Amino acid sequence: MSESSSIDSVLKETRTFAPPAAFTAQANIRSEEQYNTMWQRAKDDPAGFWGDLAREHLHWFRPFDTVLEGEMPETRWFSGGTINASYNCLDRHLETERRNKAAIIWEGEPGDTRVLRYQDLHREVCRFANVLKGLGVEKGDRITLYMPMIPELTIAMLACARIGAVHSIIFGGFSADAVADRNNDAQARIVITADGGWRRGREVPLKAAVDAALEKSPTVEKVVVVRRTGGEVDMVPDRDFWWHELTEGASADCDAVEVDAEHPLFILYTSGSTGKPKGVLHSTAGYLLGTTMTTQWVFDLKEDDTYWCTADIGWITGHSYITYGPLSNGATVVMYEGAPNWPDEGRFWEIVEKYRVSIFYTAPTAIRAFIKWGNQWPEKYDLSSLRLLGTVGEPINPEAWMWYREVIGQERCPIVDTWWQTETGGIMISPLPGITATKPGSCGRPLPGVVPDIVSSDGTSLPANEGGLLVMRQPWPHMLRTLYGDHERFKQVYFSEIPGCYFAGDGARRDEDGYIWVMGRVDDVINVSGHRLSTMEIESALVAHERVAEAAVVGFPHEIKGEGIFCFVTLKDGEGDEALQQELTQHVRDQIGALATPDRVRFAPALPKTRSGKIMRRLLRDIAAGRESVQDTTTLEDLSVLARLRDEEE
Ligand code: PRX
Repeated sequence: MSESSSIDSVLKETRTFAPPAAFTAQANIRSEEQYNTMWQRAKDDPAGFWGDLAREHLHWFRPFDTVLEGEMPETRWFSGGTINASYNCLDRHLETERRNKAAIIWEGEPGDTRVLRYQDLHREVCRFANVLKGLGVEKGDRITLYMPMIPELTIAMLACARIGAVHSIIFGGFSADAVADRNNDAQARIVITADGGWRRGREVPLKAAVDAALEKSPTVEKVVVVRRTGGEVDMVPDRDFWWHELTEGASADCDAVEVDAEHPLFILYTSGSTGKPKGVLHSTAGYLLGTTMTTQWVFDLKEDDTYWCTADIGWITGHSYITYGPLSNGATVVMYEGAPNWPDEGRFWEIVEKYRVSIFYTAPTAIRAFIKWGNQWPEKYDLSSLRLLGTVGEPINPEAWMWYREVIGQERCPIVDTWWQTETGGIMISPLPGITATKPGSCGRPLPGVVPDIVSSDGTSLPANEGGLLVMRQPWPHMLRTLYGDHERFKQVYFSEIPGCYFAGDGARRDEDGYIWVMGRVDDVINVSGHRLSTMEIESALVAHERVAEAAVVGFPHEIKGEGIFCFVTLKDGEGDEALQQELTQHVRDQIGALATPDRVRFAPALPKTRSGKIMRRLLRDIAAGRESVQDTTTLEDLSVLARLRDEEE
């Protein structure tokens, strides 16, 4: 946690935008009264509220006996029920006219396209599920997916779910070491990858990284490789197999396995503030219910929508709002492999025009990049099919929000600024597009079933407009169940700060209308381009270099990325120069991945520390941001260190 418990809120925004009447008239949630009734019922009678939705919106092999047992952090949902996520995303649609509806409209970066109807997706998932069984995979086994954004990624996810195996997806931008760490933590038996993927016209070599990772991942027995780029790969006999060869003769008949409601669906690693990544584990039924309902409420999904979430499936946004939420609802999902600026900066808008996308969900970091590239790009294309816009991943600055509304939404589309986390599984706080008068920069009010509070560090509720810690007072079905292999850490990280509450790690305030304004994270995690990175992990990477004695990493405001990475480095001996700065930058990239590339490396003779030896990050943050520090320095061991750092920065 931060060194200080109060958080100053400086943002003051007074503009509001009511939803267009025509939107409200057709919306899934269309009146304030409807929202209030749902929210109140979910608060007073969560079991009744969620139980009804679970019966109505999910397919159960065996109905559950109870809806909710226990209290946070030890909750169990839908005990006695058996279910399958793949069945819910596929089989149940085959009994309806959705069977010939497009499930995935995919576009590769080079411009190749594929459309998979629900029937096609079902067949491919069944075949690959049989392949996994043939490789000896059993219910509960962990499978690592390290893949580009191609349909085989969705197929592999749903194939795991179909046989009760637990997928652990690692974003393709992570390095071999990161893959090895996650393989080992999850004790993965199989890795599914591709030769490579396309990014800005270049091949990202994935299989080569898996080969390096496997030198340090003793639990992995087999590797399945999709041929995507056609690049050179080494195939190790009896360990590595081509996807297309294995699936060629595989049967398309594969019953979905019945699993308990609480059976783990997936593990997704996310950065923690103590270095080691946290294996966030989600359940099957609760997670599926949460993503199914929030997709309907927040994105106002309709049968004829064409829905595009631009996230990578390697992050939670892609799990919940490219795969499980939309497919469980039988939606048509657009999926794009590559970069937004390839072959030029108009690529996203070209895709919107080409497929007549109606719902578009992206991140503030992307919006800031679009603004920088200029209005001429979106203006070249017909964006009239859009009816709803969303953002996720970090606070959006009001000016970027206004640009999104005016230039992309053409003042016609409501914007949903959705607050949630890897751990929450689905959207928690968001405008409801048919009823909420939106305020640029605020994520609005809690969804039904979500009971947040803003508290001081001793757990007292704070009045309107006072900044504090954002906590949840009531459990919800799609919350994480544990950190894989470390239940104590799970309890300690999320439930020990404010007793009886889930603490999200974010600071926020609630305004006089009950709207939440998230102010960012209060611990040592930085948010680069909407992705959470642990400063500790970057520090560990730096210290692993032979010349580095100590390192402190902080975020600083960055025009495009939201936060940039600023590294303060103390050397064992000698002076640092530009060559060493570059070497260290490359070293961090190699160790963690391109996403963690430092923006600045500063050599410092010493780091400012408290008397107990804790690095005073708040002071370093001020220096990195070029601010005159107003922090309390009474516990600082050596004030001259600080003065030196500040002088050099000016
Ligand atoms: O700080 C909040 C920020 O992203 C964090 C969660 O990151 P992650 O688990 O990687 O999931 C990102 C996608 C769900 C949160 O603790 N965050 C996410 N959405 C918003 C946000 N901050 C402000 N406004 C948002 N809409």
